[in-house]
Amino acid sequence: MTGIAISHQFDPTADCVLFQGDCLDLLAQIPDEFVQLVVTSPPYNLGKPYESQLELNEYLREQRQVIEECVRALNRTGSICWQVGNYVENGEIIPLDIVLYPIFASLGLHLRNRIVWHFGHGLHASRRFSGRYEVILWFTKGNDYTFDLDAVRVPQKYPHKKYFKGPKKGQLSGHPLGKNPGDIWEIPNVKANHVEKTIHPCQFPVELIERLVLALTQEGDWVLDPFMGVGTTAVAALIHQRRAIGAEIIPEYMQIARERIALAEKGQLRIRPMQRPVYDPDTPRTTVPPQFVQIGAAPLQPALLEERHAYDVGERQE
Ligand SMILES: C[S@@+](CC[C@H](N)C(=O)[O-])C[C@H]1O[C@@H](n2cnc3c(N)ncnc32)[C@H](O)[C@@H]1O
Repeated sequence: MTGIAISHQFDPTADCVLFQGDCLDLLAQIPDEFVQLVVTSPPYNLGKPYESQLELNEYLREQRQVIEECVRALNRTGSICWQVGNYVENGEIIPLDIVLYPIFASLGLHLRNRIVWHFGHGLHASRRFSGRYEVILWFTKGNDYTFDLDAVRVPQKYPHKKYFKGPKKGQLSGHPLGKNPGDIWEIPNVKANHVEKTIHPCQFPVELIERLVLALTQEGDWVLDPFMGVGTTAVAALIHQRRAIGAEIIPEYMQIARERIALAEKGQLRIRPMQRPVYDPDTPRTTVPPQFVQIGAAPLQPALLEERHAYDVGERQE
């Protein structure tokens, strides 16, 4: 897939649709049941540069409009992953996943996991504990859904552990391909020293979306991000031979999304690899270096079970 076809309007023959404008205008062009995965991080209503802060009910009403359209555009075997944090008002937190859940439930979706994304860095609170997680609500449209666990297994904690009694005594007790990653994901967020950092204030790490893309879609499937920012979802989809659709209202972010995809086409986009462990001060030099990724290269199935290499991390990069 070298030289991917990028379109700026919805085009079912393209590999990638980058729509500059309101996501509702893009969604209106997408046929029913067209996409396999919707993964996004909507505005959190925090008054970030790209959003005007709304009264909570108005925010939820706007979110419902987008969610309804995403559900319509979603394949019967498909999934929606809505990644959110907390809305903060007068020092009080409102967990957005809790207030958004009824919208998804009322549309007949099935919640499969409430994934806690834990990270080590963020604002330091003084009148409450500092927030160090956000949530991904993973819903499916039906009960028959795509889920490829083997594609995202992670190394066992004790890979050589064996059954010590019974008919399997002496055999390895763990799954040979690794273990289920569970529903608490420790993945560094994109802060100043992260290799993927752009000007966007709340960018997804590529590895967070790679795990969802690999588990919830197959090659050639369409992955939609209605609030695409600087194109992280598109990058994660395209480097794994999926197709990508995204909308973004801010031209500067859209331009960065285009540049990231262009770099990935040339094999010049650097990302933090999925198999890189979180920084451990006890073993600072045993890790996995940032990796160049290329759209259209041999399928990039991460070798999660390979030995880690010594790598000079220099300054801490998490
Ligand atoms: C939380 S950020 C998503 C960042 C993204 N996950 C990334 O990795 O870059 C939400 C984005 O949605 C965009 N946005 C807000 N309202 C929008 C709308 N109605 N249609 C399309 N994009 C919108 C904002 O400009 C912002 O970049």
